[in-house]
Amino acid sequence: MEVVIAATEELARLGAGTIEKLLRSRPDAVLGLATGSSPLPIYDELVRLHVEEGLSFAQARAFTLDEYVGLPADHPERYRNVIEHEITGRVDFASGAVHGPDGLAADLAAACAAYDDAITEAGGVDLQILGIGTDGHIGFNEPGSSLASPTRIKTLTEQTRADNARFFGDDIDQVPQHCLTQGLATIMAARHIVLIATGRTKANAVHQLVEGPVSAMWPATILQHHPHVTVLIDNAAAGRLQLADYYRSTYAAKPGWQGL
Ligand code: GLP
Repeated sequence: MEVVIAATEELARLGAGTIEKLLRSRPDAVLGLATGSSPLPIYDELVRLHVEEGLSFAQARAFTLDEYVGLPADHPERYRNVIEHEITGRVDFASGAVHGPDGLAADLAAACAAYDDAITEAGGVDLQILGIGTDGHIGFNEPGSSLASPTRIKTLTEQTRADNARFFGDDIDQVPQHCLTQGLATIMAARHIVLIATGRTKANAVHQLVEGPVSAMWPATILQHHPHVTVLIDNAAAGRLQLADYYRSTYAAKPGWQGL
């Protein structure tokens, strides 16, 4: 696990730069995209690279992490709409190239199984962007999630619904109770995972992710078992790391030719 502590603009450049490097060498790469506010600076930088430097997504495919159950198709907070608004509709993905779990499916369990099959059939995710919840969730894998879970239906915790109420007019009752999420095993199958977290509210989750014991109580800790994870954090999110100085000096001494 590589930990990079830097200002948000630098984190955005690093995250977007990793996607750029992948797409320039493999234009048909499979990307894993996350909603939430944390990846937005990365998406803005990707849009800049697309507009100003010709970075193309025309041959790429993308799979999103999760979705609320039951939000109407045109609801602005439906993750399918959010991801289109934040990134995929701002660059040149081909139509039909962006996939997400179907929170309106008549048979939700079948939709989850079909989603995992679709990722496998696409050859797996080359690069997965992740955020992290204050309770240590990735995707919507809440505390107590099986560390070997596939894509499935989950019940959101009160904490997550309270955290996300800001997107629903600060009314927790408007936040759905259920979601579909890529499972922890699904996420772990991605070849490279780039997690971005900023702000003091993420400091404990980041501490657990990087330095805590692997536990279903902090689902993101499963990433300690992944061979290629990059954790991009600002100073505030790094505030509780015991080895912060070590991560800083390691990154400062990193040879320029060695990518993330
Ligand atoms: C949301 C999403 C996650 C996201 C997390 C943090 O509920 N399901 O994919 O990483 O919570 O969101 P934010 O980046 O807005 O803090």
